[in-house]
Amino acid sequence: MAIGERLFMNNCAQCHGSDARGSKGFPNLADADWLHGGGGDKIKETIAKGRNGMMPPMAAAVGGSDDVKNVAHYVLSLSNSPHDSLRAQLGKGKYAACAACHGADGKGNPAMGAPNLTDDVWLHGWGEQAIINMIVAGKTNQMPAQDEKLTPAQIHVLSGYVWSLSNRPAGVAAKQ
Ligand code: HEC
Ligand code: HEC
Repeated sequence: MAIGERLFMNNCAQCHGSDARGSKGFPNLADADWLHGGGGDKIKETIAKGRNGMMPPMAAAVGGSDDVKNVAHYVLSLSNSPHDSLRAQLGKGKYAACAACHGADGKGNPAMGAPNLTDDVWLHGWGEQAIINMIVAGKTNQMPAQDEKLTPAQIHVLSGYVWSLSNRPAGVAAKQ
């Protein structure tokens, strides 16, 4: 774990933060919420091969700007965030355009890196405007592959270190 921590500080902290809690656009690696899956193998695959999180611009598929706003309110309703319930109701049908990736229930799909929209974790910001921006502009977000920079042994140690951040034995306090 000490070696993993040092490798993390030197290779990962500049994007994910020295506490691994990330920031806007850079996922928190110390929580139980995963874009691409939090099992050891998935973490290792992410580190070695990198990931390309890609959401296409969706406004045209949804309709006019009022439709976009309505579907944004439907998305807000999925996490019980403050929303306009009339708009949410109107936007519900339009959400069909999103379900292929985010799931009919909005819980996301790790095979596509599509985030869960029903929880309180927002990679690209919370609230009506942040969601409208995602729908209108889409987003490409890249995790650079590390397998040309790090050895398989280093990637193995890093995978264990990252896994440990969200899988602590009961009773062991998280290091602050
Ligand atoms: C240049 C910035 C950058 C560096 C350096 C970087 N990452 Fe990432 N990482 C990202 C971004 C951006 C994503 C999100 C990709 C996406 O949106 O799908 C990500 C995603 C991840 C994920 C997947 C998280 C999830 O929720 O599924 C893991 C695990 C990860 N990084 C670990 C690491 C480790 C370990 C290192 C160091 C070896 C590292 N990263 C270095 C930018 C970076
Ligand atoms: C082709 C697949 C795909 C479709 C269709 C799609 N999304 Fe996404 N969406 C993604 C991916 C992948 C990401 C994560 C991008 C990244 O890695 O940064 C994302 C991210 C988001 C986010 C940001 C979540 C956060 O945590 O900040 C929101 C909000 C969102 N999508 C809403 C929608 C809505 C609403 C629709 C329908 C109008 C939609 N998406 C359609 C794949 C998709």
